[in-house]
Amino acid sequence: MELNIIHHQSCLEGLKLLPDECVDLIFTDPPYFQYRAQNVQGLKNHKDVVTEFDFDDFKTEEEYLQFLEAVLIECFRVCKSGASGYLWCGDDFVSFLNRIVEHVGFQFRKTIHWHKTNPFPAIYTRKMYANSMEMLIHFSKGTPKTWNNKPVNDMHNFIQSPICMGKERTKHKTQKPLKVCLPFIEISSNENDLVLDPFMGSGSTAVACKMLNRNYIGYELNEEFCQIANTRLNQTR
Ligand SMILES: C[S@@+](CC[C@H](N)C(=O)[O-])C[C@H]1O[C@@H](n2cnc3c(N)ncnc32)[C@H](O)[C@@H]1O
Repeated sequence: MELNIIHHQSCLEGLKLLPDECVDLIFTDPPYFQYRAQNVQGLKNHKDVVTEFDFDDFKTEEEYLQFLEAVLIECFRVCKSGASGYLWCGDDFVSFLNRIVEHVGFQFRKTIHWHKTNPFPAIYTRKMYANSMEMLIHFSKGTPKTWNNKPVNDMHNFIQSPICMGKERTKHKTQKPLKVCLPFIEISSNENDLVLDPFMGSGSTAVACKMLNRNYIGYELNEEFCQIANTRLNQTR
């Protein structure tokens, strides 16, 4: 198995080629489901929705959840006993996904809340609050084998950070800032461990792993995003 590589292929095909119990940590940000958001009156074609939810081809919620369940089944198989997993999602799907992680065999541990301090602002005519929160579901295969505690005030299930900006920002529309990746990878893995991200996007998980001396393996369907990720990795020491 080649380490420190982002495969340009669907994770569902790629994961099947990995051996059982080889991964120490999963850190991933799957495509979000846009159908529901598109059908809220006044949201269709709104810039905030279009930019945040650009990647999925799912026709129904069932199709979306079945796809994520199939990915998570493979994730469970490739995880070592005691591996942790972190899965990003929006507030509309968090309770479904909590149940799916348990259904495939993981233990649900906690939902972590990311407060985006500079979200797209709420617009009066939409009659909705600004979408300033994303959720990160923490789960594990049995009791977590790695738990590198930080100072007590850094162990809340809440983190604040602006969305990706400045030099860190790439063309990827849902790029996660490294600030909301690094602490969780540091807490739940050790140096030289193997971290899996089935949905690499612009490669934030891989970049964080390189910075923390973890190995990574991942998949990304879109060739341009693979190139963006590899450029970022080449610029990371
Ligand atoms: C929410 S984005 C991940 C963003 C990433 N966390 C970052 O910081 O750039 C989800 C990514 O999954 C990719 N994707 C969608 N379906 C996929 C599949 N079946 N296999 C691999 N990648 C897929 C999309 O192209 C998209 O880049």
